[in-house]
Amino acid sequence: MLHRVHVGSTSGGDSCAGHSRARSRAATSPIGGATIPGVRYGSSQRAPAKIVTSIAAAAIMARPASPSRAAPRPATIGAMSGPHLRDFNRIVFFTGAGMSAESGVPTYRGAGGIWKEYDYRRYACQDAFNRDPAAVWEFHNYRRRLVAACAPNLGHRIIARAGQREARVTVVTQNIDGLHALSGSRDILELHGNLWRVRCDTCGVKQQDSHEPREQLRCDGCGGWWRPDIVWFGDFLDDATLHSAKQLISSCDLFVSVGTSAVVYPAAQLPEYARAGKALRVEINPDETPASDLYDVHLRGPATEMLTRLADGDPHLLDPA
Ligand code: OAD
Repeated sequence: MLHRVHVGSTSGGDSCAGHSRARSRAATSPIGGATIPGVRYGSSQRAPAKIVTSIAAAAIMARPASPSRAAPRPATIGAMSGPHLRDFNRIVFFTGAGMSAESGVPTYRGAGGIWKEYDYRRYACQDAFNRDPAAVWEFHNYRRRLVAACAPNLGHRIIARAGQREARVTVVTQNIDGLHALSGSRDILELHGNLWRVRCDTCGVKQQDSHEPREQLRCDGCGGWWRPDIVWFGDFLDDATLHSAKQLISSCDLFVSVGTSAVVYPAAQLPEYARAGKALRVEINPDETPASDLYDVHLRGPATEMLTRLADGDPHLLDPA
């Protein structure tokens, strides 16, 4: 089974994304759910050359086909109080770029999004790296610089503290910034790799590296190019990581999606496993997403505020006043 990263879109025409789309599985996403009323359930641094592209806009519009919409789930939770983290034993937080937005890490899409300014076909796919590894490294060093200036936010800390209690808490993240680990979360599945790890493109050896910028670009052992150990468009996700994510999501009792546009597959398919497993599903996002109908509860607002709401005043989860 192929698990290449792709946007659930049919637009474009670029070699990188076009190639991955052609070989990836069709994205089917039967979605259904109910919005419960109340709680609105419901730099100055030098950067690589900017290339304006229409890809990001295409990605925003990308929505997987949803041929069979499931019947809405009944609203069974107290409308005003909302779900609280302490009431669940097996929790999965499924996070995207919006999780780190309040830390200052740019998201990919929407206003100020990375793919609005940088063409991922030139900076975030293997073809681009094969053509011009130095340019791809320049872009990733720029990203290292941006992320290095950011710290975990209150939302990261609430998630980390939830995992230090009795409940089994796993973070399944699309983020490569490492902020979940920095905030103290221990059980983390990084679907798209990590900006602070490199891999030899020739011999495959891996190395943690927090240098900013990364200057050593050739492998000591074989002389091949180091590349960021992150999953680019058209790359395969690590099978074991994806398998673990599916298992944990299938068996959790609370699934909280935080700050993802739900357009990049196969990650965007994972909430389906929470539905199949009958978990209560909460979407935290200021905006509706193509997957919103899949959730029982919609918390429309920024991650820190909405996670604070899920913490419900629990002093073990919140920063001291
Ligand atoms: P996106 O940039 O596509 O989406 C960010 C989401 O966060 C949007 O839905 C925003 O509405 C939401 N958001 C913004 N600010 C927020 C806040 N303060 N609190 C909560 N939500 C907020 O990012 P991802 O969905 O993570 O992959 O993108 C998925 C993948 O596409 C990334 O992992 C990356 C990218 O291309 C690769 O590079 C392979």
